[in-house]
Amino acid sequence: MASTATFAESYDDTLGPVIFRPWARELIARAKPKDGEHILDLACGTGIVSREIIAAGIRPASLTGIDISPDMLAVARSRTYAPGIDTEWHVADAGNLPVADGRFNVALCQQAFQFFPDKPAALAELHRVLAPGGRVAFCIQREIEVNPMLNAQAVTLEKFAGPGAASAVRAICGLSDRETIRDLFTSGGFQGVAVESVSLTLHHPDARAYAKGAMGGMHTGDKMAGLPAEKRKAAYDMFCAELGDCFDGIAMTFPHVSHVVTAHK
Ligand SMILES: C[S@@+](CC[C@H](N)C(=O)[O-])C[C@H]1O[C@@H](n2cnc3c(N)ncnc32)[C@H](O)[C@@H]1O
Repeated sequence: MASTATFAESYDDTLGPVIFRPWARELIARAKPKDGEHILDLACGTGIVSREIIAAGIRPASLTGIDISPDMLAVARSRTYAPGIDTEWHVADAGNLPVADGRFNVALCQQAFQFFPDKPAALAELHRVLAPGGRVAFCIQREIEVNPMLNAQAVTLEKFAGPGAASAVRAICGLSDRETIRDLFTSGGFQGVAVESVSLTLHHPDARAYAKGAMGGMHTGDKMAGLPAEKRKAAYDMFCAELGDCFDGIAMTFPHVSHVVTAHK
């Protein structure tokens, strides 16, 4: 039976537990948001970082998620349970935040900066909305050569869904140069800029199920969904084979490598 889940729901269900929740914990450990602080989840998507903050038992004075996609925000709104916390969700471009100057003590931005079309404008806006001393933590995927799971996905999509689908995966790794990242933050007026390569070992107990969820609609439009069942099976088999040593015949365990940026105003 065809799935009726939206892209944003599939993203949250499939990628959230495997990839984005572990990274959210990593960012929280570095930015250390505290009770009573005003927190920004920039390009919040489906709200995974915000939910992880609440799951960690942190009680912010306010929690604001901003994303350009109304569909992603709709999932964030519907799936975030934050009783007693002043929670706001805004559809907006990172380069034009609908927020007063100096509003936030902490901003987290997970796997999104690489997609912002005007990065200096986004960092200028972030700087504006931070209070003096406000902390930021970003994670930005490193190059595809050190990310075997994404490489397996790109190679498989190239064959079965075409170059457009493959380049959408490669774009995830499109801002991998450490000095470029450092210069962007330093030029944006941030202090104490640190850019560290961090590798998390991530796991899914069923690589085929992951492939189905991650490639069944995301990055592919209708192309994978429109393939006959035997071709889709061949694509999932190819994805598993391309994982190499990261695939044990059932599960996948893989390094997922990003630059983590920490800085303050
Ligand atoms: C890979 S998702 C990450 C979402 C979320 N941070 C997470 O951890 O799951 C990238 C997000 O960036 C958002 N995005 C891309 N360009 C944006 C922009 N210019 N302004 C705001 N959000 C943007 C997308 O809509 C998407 O939700």
